Amino acid sequence: MIKGSFPIEDFRGLQTPFYAYDKELLQKTLDVINAESNKYGYHVHYAVKANANPIILQTICASNLGADCVSGGEVKAAIEAGFSPDKIVFAGVGKADWEIDYALDNDIFCFNVESEPELENINVLAAQKNKIARIALRINPNVDAHTHSYITTGLNENKFGFSIESLPQVVVLLKKFSNVKLVGLHFHIGSQITDMSAFQDLCIKINELQEFLREKDICCQHINVGGGLGINYQHPNHVPIADFESYFKVFHDYLKVEKNQIVHFELGRSVVAPCGSLITKVLYVKKGTSKQFAIVDAGMTDLIRPALYQAYHHIENITSNANEEKYDIVGPICESSDTFAKDYTINAVKRGDLLAMRSAGAYGEIMASRYNLRELPKSYFF
Ligand code: LLP
Repeated sequence: MIKGSFPIEDFRGLQTPFYAYDKELLQKTLDVINAESNKYGYHVHYAVKANANPIILQTICASNLGADCVSGGEVKAAIEAGFSPDKIVFAGVGKADWEIDYALDNDIFCFNVESEPELENINVLAAQKNKIARIALRINPNVDAHTHSYITTGLNENKFGFSIESLPQVVVLLKKFSNVKLVGLHFHIGSQITDMSAFQDLCIKINELQEFLREKDICCQHINVGGGLGINYQHPNHVPIADFESYFKVFHDYLKVEKNQIVHFELGRSVVAPCGSLITKVLYVKKGTSKQFAIVDAGMTDLIRPALYQAYHHIENITSNANEEKYDIVGPICESSDTFAKDYTINAVKRGDLLAMRSAGAYGEIMASRYNLRELPKSYFF
């Protein structure tokens, strides 16, 4: 098994569990994103929901990405980290009035609007401030992303966006609203997508839609294709950076853009997942009747993905090279779902060993909770 190299000496004395972030890998990833997206003049927004750690946000902001936010709290965090409001987009099916007000006060670039009543509400709130809100309509393209059902968003059965069929009626409605301006179309089909043909399908749907809208004399300057690029959870050391080259090329090859149209992306996981690991200590090795358990001090409260989505995270014993053995690796929370891996082969563990749960930089720290009144783990950058 190829192992990552961890600065074990620097880990000594730190209270476990904690999140360890690899600054160099984050920067390299951002450099690749910029190099590949700049080839085509694409604008990339970082999906703050993946990880809003202030140092991560500042690093991403310094690499000139914009921010994709889904709550007033995220808009605030992005602004505090230095993102210019004119690079902030704000999505979400349930934006509260205070969140819309806050975004209007800060003159963000665009609201990704998901329903008619939301459109009407933004119009009312913008009118109260004598402002014109720039909006993009989130369209549900009914494209299957072939990913976990909890993170598939672009099917008709999902709660997100407008259906293509409802668009003519929405366009009529828009004409009545003088405090919103349609500037874009927004799409997002799901997350952890590794089959590029799903993005190809999305491009084809967008092309058809643009054609349909052109017949109605509607052309939007901005096309936001969302995020969703997956990473390699199985082999974090072999493939530490997602395939941004192929990803952006799919859009270049298949998406038909009008002159002056700008293509936007909202990438979260692929930007930050590989650079983060959850470091945890083995508390006890318990011999069960048919298996043995490695009981660690991290729980589903610190990395909920295995419990919530049956997600795989590569786990390494970073303090031992002893012969490999099989364990169920479990946390201390009073729930059976507090299991990181079952029948997992790893260098034999003993009390006090440190394990690294890899690819935890996205949807790890940000989804942590204090269930069982646990302390939130700290984060460190190496
Ligand atoms: N744009 C929109 C509208 C989204 O809903 C999402 C993610 C993104 C962009 C960023 O997608 P990404 O590039 O990260 O795939 N907690 C789950 C993932 C939830 C994703 C929700 N939306 C997980 O741990 O797998």
